[in-house]
Amino acid sequence: MKAYRASILRFDEQHRAQYDEDGLLVVGPDAQGRQVVRAVGAYAQLAPDYAGLNIEHLPGRILAPGFVDMHIHYPQTDVIGAPADGLLPWLENYTFPHESRFSAPDYAAEVAQFFVAELLRNGVTTSLTFATSHPTSVDALFTEAQRQQMRLITGKVLQDRHSPDGVRDQTEQSLVDTEALIKRWHGVDRLGYAITPRFAPTSTAAQLRGAGELAAKYSDVWIQSHVAENLGEIAWARELFPDSRSYLATYNDFGLMRPRAVYAHCIHFDDDDRALMRDTGTVAAISPTSNLFLGSGFFDYAGADRVGFGYGLASDVGGGTSFSPFHTMLAAYYVGREGQTKTGLSLSPQQLWWQHTAGAAAALGLDGVVGNLQKGCEADFVVLNPQATPLLARKTSLANSLDELLFAMIVLGDDRLVERTVISQAG
Ligand code: GUN
Ligand code: ZN
Repeated sequence: MKAYRASILRFDEQHRAQYDEDGLLVVGPDAQGRQVVRAVGAYAQLAPDYAGLNIEHLPGRILAPGFVDMHIHYPQTDVIGAPADGLLPWLENYTFPHESRFSAPDYAAEVAQFFVAELLRNGVTTSLTFATSHPTSVDALFTEAQRQQMRLITGKVLQDRHSPDGVRDQTEQSLVDTEALIKRWHGVDRLGYAITPRFAPTSTAAQLRGAGELAAKYSDVWIQSHVAENLGEIAWARELFPDSRSYLATYNDFGLMRPRAVYAHCIHFDDDDRALMRDTGTVAAISPTSNLFLGSGFFDYAGADRVGFGYGLASDVGGGTSFSPFHTMLAAYYVGREGQTKTGLSLSPQQLWWQHTAGAAAALGLDGVVGNLQKGCEADFVVLNPQATPLLARKTSLANSLDELLFAMIVLGDDRLVERTVISQAG
């Protein structure tokens, strides 16, 4: 067992932050030998029970749950910042040509190593990640995540039409490959598989049907895709699947909406779409830096809460512009202020932080497993240094409340704030 003395941030079941200014975090192995939180709370209260334990004292530092990124593309690490006239030209001119390079295992392995290191450097300890349509790209990322003992979910992209040579796959083979990858990787160590149709316009009905059949057969595997991001994309999807009630409903018609199904963007919804998300237990990966960069629109938080479906935050690199959860939380704040209805929500710092940790974990079906520092959670956490830059030091020292402290870090923070990322180790 090992203990850390520092300020500690975690979340209760009402999504409120709990903060111990002088706290103690005790980690030790669970029955499977993995490091989990064994005790957490005020130092003065817990210390007598843990006398004699090796305690690392981190004065002035804040321990917080490792961040959970609900949607990111590892093959788009080098696509960040590609200028284009919105989503569809961005895919055609930059993203598809670049992703074709991932058929080469050595290239995929090099990018996977950089990608995982960059996530960890930014304090992200769990991610749901797109690979490319090449099975080798999936093997490369799982191999690296396993080496780092990181909790990571990914899958081979399914795209058997409206895609150029080099990324387009073949219907039958794509489903055979998907099932083989599920058997090879799902549930191994901390890894999970996600059935990954890119989005409805680049899959035939046969491919979506096959994906839905696999989703029914392997019910604890995740599903990930994109929906209702951009008006041109929506018009295209409606043209290709005119029998479905809406773009979102297309996925439901093929059996691709259920708990553990995660759709990026979910911007241009009506209330029937929102109710379909709620009723099927499907969740949204809100991707604010991407939506602002590609000019896609603004996620409607008020609409989501009114109808009541689950969501959390995501970087969506490389449509998104940053690996940093602080940049993503700030962009989410801007999105809330702008809104779709112009009512201008002010998402609280605690709410923003929750959406990128415990809230994102809950949306992925991993509540109580990651994204929090409550007893029993896997011991993935970040050590934050609020003095990391002169401006951060100045601003955080003026904070009169937890909200002011958290907001100063959200607005001014980036990778420099993350002094260390600790990953739960297997015994
Ligand atoms: N829709 C289909 N593919 C993509 C992608 O790679 N990025 C984004 N942002 N949207 C998509
Ligand atoms: Zn995406």
